[in-house]
Amino acid sequence: MPKPAPRTFAVKSFGCQMNVYDGERMAELMAGEGLVPADAAEADLVVLNTCHIREKATEKVYSDIGRLRKREDGKQPMIAVAGCVAQAEGEEIVARAHVDVVVGPQAYHNLPRLVAAAAEGKPALDTDMPAASKFGALPARRKVGPSAFLTVQEGCDKFCTYCVVPYTRGAEVSRPFAHILDEAKALVDAGAREITLLGQNVNAWADEDGRGLDHLIRALDRIPGLARIRYTTSHPNDMTQGLIDAHRDVEKLMPFLHLPVQSGSDRVLKAMNRSHSRDSYLRILDRVRAARPDIALSGDFIVGFPGETEAEFADTLSLIDAVGYAQAFSFKYSPRPGTPAAVMADQIAPEVMDERLQRLQAALNRDQLAFNAATVGRTCAVLIERAGRHPGQMLGKSPWLQSVHLTTDARIGDMVEVDVVEAGPNSLGGAERARAAA
Ligand code: 5AD
Ligand code: SF4
Repeated sequence: MPKPAPRTFAVKSFGCQMNVYDGERMAELMAGEGLVPADAAEADLVVLNTCHIREKATEKVYSDIGRLRKREDGKQPMIAVAGCVAQAEGEEIVARAHVDVVVGPQAYHNLPRLVAAAAEGKPALDTDMPAASKFGALPARRKVGPSAFLTVQEGCDKFCTYCVVPYTRGAEVSRPFAHILDEAKALVDAGAREITLLGQNVNAWADEDGRGLDHLIRALDRIPGLARIRYTTSHPNDMTQGLIDAHRDVEKLMPFLHLPVQSGSDRVLKAMNRSHSRDSYLRILDRVRAARPDIALSGDFIVGFPGETEAEFADTLSLIDAVGYAQAFSFKYSPRPGTPAAVMADQIAPEVMDERLQRLQAALNRDQLAFNAATVGRTCAVLIERAGRHPGQMLGKSPWLQSVHLTTDARIGDMVEVDVVEAGPNSLGGAERARAAA
């Protein structure tokens, strides 16, 4: 049964920051069509912007669809599945969950057309990966918070053997320099003081002349009103000396690097097709620290990759000890259909994975608390991002991406000089010292 053309909409994004960005752009697109934002519990159209990276993330889509079907208001919303599950499962979702619209991550500029088709009872599925970029078809950025995302690169050619991204997001593509600069300026005009450049392999970004991400960062550095630049996620093999030098030279480039390693064992890294070794990774970090001694390091880890022995897992723990991460993400290996690792011998038992993940996270938590504790007594700039739970309390971010809470009359978007007075595992407490001129 086709549903009437929707008047209100909600976008729910799961997974990575690129999905958050895509979700914002879809919301801008639908608002531009005259639809009114609403809560997912009552919207006429609900867009589920999904993640396919691990099995649990994928299952979540189907339980969310089930929940929308039994909404408290008794209405049946039009359901659009976007993101990587849409790309990977396409028609299967329509068959299994009877959703109205399926739209892949490279096709979401067509969302209004697909919604209109669904309202007429026509098929509404688009998982094309067109050569022409969707970005040109999206409306300009108008209103954003103090910290904004900007996608500069999409896709991945690395084909790590566990990962679905090269299949769902396609080959590595860089957005043109001039388009990125225009969008960055629009974001600053719309209120952004910090821009985080996004890409599945953001440091593989290159312009038509082969200039890399450092060139882009140096250009963004010259935008008046922009105070902070960040980028994520990077691959060790694309960590050029030029980019490392930018960490030394560009004051607006924040002292933070997310550089996934996945494992500390050379045998496992090889089986993962990571194309870097434990040692080459550590040497990159040495060079980064030489350029920017106070840099906060972050990473991703997978435990229980097929065939991982206790000794190989211990190599990951010793790498963590050697690096001293400020924060990190860690996951149990999850076989993804169609990836080489899913059919490898020696899949690891779930209880072994659980136990390894616990030990790994204990080590990471210990280091995160130590890193936070080491900032106590320092003074740093905090970009205020939102109100805290208590009256007069505001929350913001330190240069090292720690959450900082403080009592202040500063407003969202202000940059405040703060003495760090206390540290917990997940945040810092600060006292205001001075306000930078806006
Ligand atoms: N199983 C577990 N973790 C995975 N990741 C990617 N694919 C898988 C998988 N199949 C993790 C990696 C990557 C992060 C985004 O998700 O650590 O860096
Ligand atoms: Fe996936 Fe590896 Fe590409 Fe990262 S580098 S997106 S883990 S294939």
